[in-house]
This record gives sequence, structure tokens and C-alpha cells, in this order.
Amino acid sequence: MSESSIPDVTETPAWQELEELRDSADIDLRSEFEADPRRAESFSFEAADLFVDLSKNLVNEEIVTALLSLASSVGVEQRRDAMFAGEKINVTEGRSVLHTALRRPKDASPELAVHGQDVDRDVHAVLEKVYAFADKVRSGEWKGVTGKPIETVVNIGIGGSDLGPVMVYEALKPLKNERLSARFISNIDPTDAAEKLGDLDPETTLVVVASKTFTTLETLTNARVARAWLLDGLRAKGAIGEGQEAGAVAKHFVAVSTALDKVEKFGIDPENAFGFWDWVGGRYSVDSAIGTVLAVVLGPKVFEELLAGFHAMDEHFRTAPLHKNVPVLMGMLNIWDNNFLGAETHAVLPYDQHLHRFPAYLQQLTMESNGKSVKWDGSTVDTETGEIFWGEPGTNGQHAFYQLIHQGTRIIPCDFIAFATPAYQTKDGDQDVHELFLANFFAQTKALAFGKSADEVRAEGVDESIVPARTFHGNQPTTSIMGPKLTPSTLGQLIALYEHIVFVEGIVWGIDSFDQWGVELGKKLAKDLAPAIAGDEQAIAEQDGSTRGLIEYYRAKRER
Ligand code: F6P
Repeated sequence: MSESSIPDVTETPAWQELEELRDSADIDLRSEFEADPRRAESFSFEAADLFVDLSKNLVNEEIVTALLSLASSVGVEQRRDAMFAGEKINVTEGRSVLHTALRRPKDASPELAVHGQDVDRDVHAVLEKVYAFADKVRSGEWKGVTGKPIETVVNIGIGGSDLGPVMVYEALKPLKNERLSARFISNIDPTDAAEKLGDLDPETTLVVVASKTFTTLETLTNARVARAWLLDGLRAKGAIGEGQEAGAVAKHFVAVSTALDKVEKFGIDPENAFGFWDWVGGRYSVDSAIGTVLAVVLGPKVFEELLAGFHAMDEHFRTAPLHKNVPVLMGMLNIWDNNFLGAETHAVLPYDQHLHRFPAYLQQLTMESNGKSVKWDGSTVDTETGEIFWGEPGTNGQHAFYQLIHQGTRIIPCDFIAFATPAYQTKDGDQDVHELFLANFFAQTKALAFGKSADEVRAEGVDESIVPARTFHGNQPTTSIMGPKLTPSTLGQLIALYEHIVFVEGIVWGIDSFDQWGVELGKKLAKDLAPAIAGDEQAIAEQDGSTRGLIEYYRAKRER
């Protein structure tokens, strides 16, 4: 392990002050709210169109001030500015980190040129190409090999080349083109491709192969499976004959990648490929050409609005003073919960069915970014890093795991997300169903914060023996995030908010939030194991006892 050039964060005066505050402050939310009638107001903030209430977190003004001085002392502002300017802050990969450049408006000034690249020009050139293609598919001008317009766009990708697109598609589905719909194949489990392609008509299907590196085993395997499905299907219909395969692939396959040479080798016409750059991390790429499936099915206008939403949050993060900077405040609260109060996980609970894939998306964003145990200079981290993110949409989660949050022994900070206006105005008799839904949203954070004391339970005339079981200790920290409506813009704002929260936490821990070396070993071993799985006796014998036993079980039980 190398000597650290990054100061030990736990040795800073701000960290030590926070430790003292943790030991002395003993925040009780009931008392805090009673003592300060303006607490909600003081801890509520606006960021672009989002309203964020931090008042039900286990902090007071003094703690927040100390958290912000910790942020300053580790250089959050300087590192943020370095990121926006394109400095190579992804140290272990030697790359800039410029996902924020993907959403700069066309006329942004001054222009962003980084390491000799005119970033603004290149970003907008690709966007125009994606939009022109999307318009052709949407209007029906782009036709399959038999002359039929496209009806289904199948995105094949995994990780950042899947989770972002599928999450946004699900979130904005009501805005989709009527003729078009999207499907997503990610898993190398053959079930995924079989079930997603099974009922599709190859004549009206367009496949987008999305892979930053164009080397990912899952994606390339699924792309080949889809190509075989397409060609077999067209042949079976008599739609193509021998020698017409390349023409069919050209009409039904496009690609998104930073490795356009590999795209061509795969057999996709480079004319039908959309590029991006190594300074966009996979989990930060939904706003790049990786969003092509979205531009096609939801439309260029929706995609533009999404990008504008991202940019609005970027501008807030870039310019708001720390004490009003929501990504900074939320990132530092996560540090407080994780490093000082001992929380190990963080729940994200969208009260919006359209955000049902948002927690899954956030799992890659947060945990692939901040699940590190060395700092960017190679030295060991000084404290716990990346918390475990998880979640499900409300109210479903209420009937599943909220019991543990309300009455379990662990501290579980939760982000509650909701919108004022629903996608569907629905009545149950006189009852507005969205109001019923939001009543749950408001009730949960209230119950988590203030609980129900034993005396309050007793006052209901409950038998003394079950009073403890019916008591709620409260004091569970929550953040409430509300927006006017789930739109492309507010969705972009929400995603960018979490991107920047991740960034702030990574800076405090001194880690490189933009590499992901931790995924490599498993990938390599999977490749190395292929001969053993196929039955090579020597390769089987070389395995450790457990792996050998599992492979032998597989070989004995596999049906063909
Ligand atoms: O294995 C992890 C990872 O590299 C992610 O970071 C990335 O989003 C995903 O694989 C897919 O990679 P690609 O877009 O290069 O196929």
C-alpha cells in the first residue's frame, strides 16, 4: 500500500468536532421540532424545481455548520470546479470526468474545450445525429428490410448501458410515441433475450447495441443472439435470401459506443453508430448517446428536456453557496449518517410508480462509484466508505420492509421522493387517489421522525404487556424530496442531484468515484472457467474444492 498524499480526513479539526458533536448533541427530533418552530423552514431548500426538506435528519445548525466546514476542508468546491473544467480527476484511469458537459446547452459560453477537444461541438454533433436518426424512425421514414416501419426498439446493454435507459423509459413512458415501444435485454441469462424477443416481429424490430467499451461479454453475446434471431426470423418468412444478411443487419441494428472500430467489426454500419467519449463513466452515461433508445421512443424533445433538467441541477451544484447547495448538504448528511451515526444502508423510496427502477439505477450509481477501500493515491481509506443503497416504490415497501425501519434496531436513513401532480388523475368515488397516496408519503416520514411513545400507546387503553411491541422509537432520519410533477426536466434534476451527492461523498473519503476496478476480477474468472464448465478434466481438477464441487454438480444435473 502506498504512502498517502491525501490527508487523513479523520484527523481534520472538522471531523474531530463532528465526533464531539455526535457524542454530545444527542438529537431528538421531537424535542428539536418543539424547541424550534422554524426548524422545517430553516432546513428546507430549493434546487432547480425540487423542494428538499432535510429537517427530519438527526442534525442541528451546529452539526450542519461543522459538516460544511468538513466539506470545505477536504476541498469539495475545488474538486467540483476541477471536474467541471475537465481536469483528469479520474486518477486511476487517467481520465477527465465530464458527464456534466453532455448536458450543456448548445450556446453555452464560454465554450468548453478540454485537452484539445472541442467538447461542446462534439457533444452537440452526436446529439444532432441521434436526433436525426430518431426522427426518421419516429416518422416511419426509417424502414426495416421489408419496408415496414419500426415498432419495437430493443436496447441491448448492461450496467450503465441499461439501467439508466430503462429507468428513464419507465419514468417517462406516458410520453412515448404511440407506435413505438422499447424493450431492454441486459442479462446474459438466455431467458432474458428469449423472453424479450420471443413475441417480436423481426421485420419491425430495431436493435440498439449499447456498450461503452463494446467488449462486454453479456452485451456482445446478446447482440449476436439477437442478430441470429433477426436473420433466422427474416429467412423463415422468406423476407431475405442468401447474401442479404448484411443489408438486413444494417436496417435493424444500430450501435452506441466509444469504440466505433469495434462496432464496425461486429458488422454494424459506422453510419448507424453513435459515439461518446472515455470521459463519460458508464453509470453517468444515460444523458449521452447511450440514451438513443430514449430519443427514438420518447422523442428528441423529451430527451432535450431531460438534458436541460440535468443542466439546471449542475448549475445549482456549481454555483450555490455550500449552505444552500442541496447536493452538498445531502452528501454531507450521508457522511454524518454513515461515518458518525453508524448507518450502513440508505433507502431510497420513490412515491411514484413511474420511478420503480430508480432505486436499481441508483445502486449502480452510488455503489459502483463509492464502494472503494483505497483512496485515489492507492493508500487505504481512513473510514467507512460507500453505504448500501436500496429501495422500492412506496406504498409497496410499507407492506414489506418498513417494519424494520420503524421498529428495528438499525438506523436507516431514507430519502422519500414524491411529486405534487400525478401522471393520472384518478378518483375512488370522491377520494382523489393521489391524495391518498401522498397521505402515506407524509405519514411515513412523520412516523419515522416522531414515533409513538409508550405513554401514547398506553393512552389508547392497550394491555401493558403489549405496550413495548406497539411503541415506535422514532428518530429515524429521513429526507423528503418533492417536485411539481415527474417530467423529463425534473427527472434529469433528480438524477443529477444523486450524481453530485455521490461526488461529494467520494471527495470526503478521498476515493476515485469514477473507476470500477472491483468488477474486473469476476469478469476474468468467468472467462477462465469456461473450459472447466465445458468438461475439461484438467481444468476441473485445477479448481478449488468448492468451485470444483459446484461445477461437478452442474455437469451432473444439466439437461440438454
Ligand atoms: O462491469 C461494470 C461496467 O463496466 C459498468 O461500469 C458499465 O456500465 C457496464 O459494465 C457496461 O459496460 P459497457 O457499456 O462498456 O458495455
